[in-house]
Amino acid sequence: MGIQKELTTIKSIFEKGDTDIEVTVAGWVKSVRNNKAFSFIILNDGTTFDNLQIIADASLETYQNVLNAGVGAALKIKGKLVESPGKGQSVEMHGITVEIYGNTDETYPLQKKGHSLEFLREKAHLRPRTNTFYAVFKVRSVLAKATHDFFAEKDFFYLNSPIITGSDAEGAGEMFNVTTFNVGDDKLPRTEKGEVDFSKDYFAKNTHLTVSGQLSAECFALGMGGVYTFGPTFRSENSNTTRHLAEFWMIEPEAAFYDLDDMADLAADYVKRLINDAFKYCEKELAFLHKIYAKGLGEDLKKVASANFQKVTYTEAIEILKSSNQKFEFPVEWGIDLQTEHERFLSEKHFKGPVTVTDYPKDIKAFYMKLNEDNKTVRAMDVLVPGVGELIGGSQREDNLELLEKRIAELKMDMTDYWWYLELRKFGSVPHSGFGLGFERAVMYITGMTNIRDVIPFPRTPRNAEF
Ligand code: 4AD
Ligand code: MG
Repeated sequence: MGIQKELTTIKSIFEKGDTDIEVTVAGWVKSVRNNKAFSFIILNDGTTFDNLQIIADASLETYQNVLNAGVGAALKIKGKLVESPGKGQSVEMHGITVEIYGNTDETYPLQKKGHSLEFLREKAHLRPRTNTFYAVFKVRSVLAKATHDFFAEKDFFYLNSPIITGSDAEGAGEMFNVTTFNVGDDKLPRTEKGEVDFSKDYFAKNTHLTVSGQLSAECFALGMGGVYTFGPTFRSENSNTTRHLAEFWMIEPEAAFYDLDDMADLAADYVKRLINDAFKYCEKELAFLHKIYAKGLGEDLKKVASANFQKVTYTEAIEILKSSNQKFEFPVEWGIDLQTEHERFLSEKHFKGPVTVTDYPKDIKAFYMKLNEDNKTVRAMDVLVPGVGELIGGSQREDNLELLEKRIAELKMDMTDYWWYLELRKFGSVPHSGFGLGFERAVMYITGMTNIRDVIPFPRTPRNAEF
């Protein structure tokens, strides 16, 4: 049989604009207004942001279904499309038959409009039915496609890096363990030192959820030229902020024969492509979101898409912050890791747009970054954007075997975990670079949503893994 053959999407109804034909639609009731002689049903089927208005005459055989249908009910409606006399839509429907798939009742949480985002987070299973979340998640989907299109056009290959790993790609120790051991078991195998003996575990070693696909991407870049990953990453950092998740998605391009400047250009082009495609495919959704959550953001983003990103070194950025007369919670000194308040000051107040900060002190950056000749800073870059702070972190990689070994030893990391990574420097090493863009932060930046929990379907944060 197939249900689909019978149905017409609301998207295609508005796109084609045909009238005087009979079609069947199916969707969820946004509102019903019953008058004496007829009812207005506002229906959305998920295929477009726009709703279809249906006029159901009280004389219909199935009119009782209209009277029974509550907000949120799923209906199938056959009707005739007619030109709409009202403003706001080109076409409306005159109902012929109305069937109920699944009704609701007065406990449906989204009865009324205008719920707070906090309330909707507790109803994350239903929030796709709201205008806001429909718009956000359509933008998210469009940005994912834009990512694949952008890198494919640059001849970068899409790589799936492993989710379970045996090494800490960032060396920051913020990893979730993966084990088949039962943590409550008091008879866990122990080593002579009394530590848990992971050689008896499933992988015969201590394993974790990945914090980054970078190290895998480097292996493939040094054979395939340009690659990128796009996958989930996990960090157990205990930061309960509006821009950190325990599970987030990251896009990590990595390319051979790219230095930091090449990579910074790629990063700027990529961000601009995301903005352009968002406007191209989500014009209505962005207009709606910006109007409610981020006035003026649309114009700002359009300017960003057509200008060069500004660039400063970390040392220059510190000078700017120090001479700014701005009161920061975190005092500014050369050597500190930039905090969100500093990052936002730089991008929002000083540069008034995205800014690429390069050459950070080596002590606040990961082990794999290429050391500069000053021996103090590394070829790192962060792209900071208004409203969000750090959107991208990247670097040119240390391609000299001895320097890399020295750094791993200095940081007291376990050299044996990285034997294969070190061999990339032993066999055919070349200058290469890459970056990671936090996908949720990109969705925040472009939609104007200010809490990262509102741009991922089911957020995982400290003390929260509901749904
Ligand atoms: O700066 P990060 O830690 O860089 C890396 O992971 C590198 N391996 C990337 C690379 O060079 N291939 O993370 C990259 C980006 C950040 O700029 C931020 O946007 C995002 O990932 N990010 C997070 N997003 C949400 N929640 C978190 N806990 C995040 N941690 C990082
Ligand atoms: Mg970073």
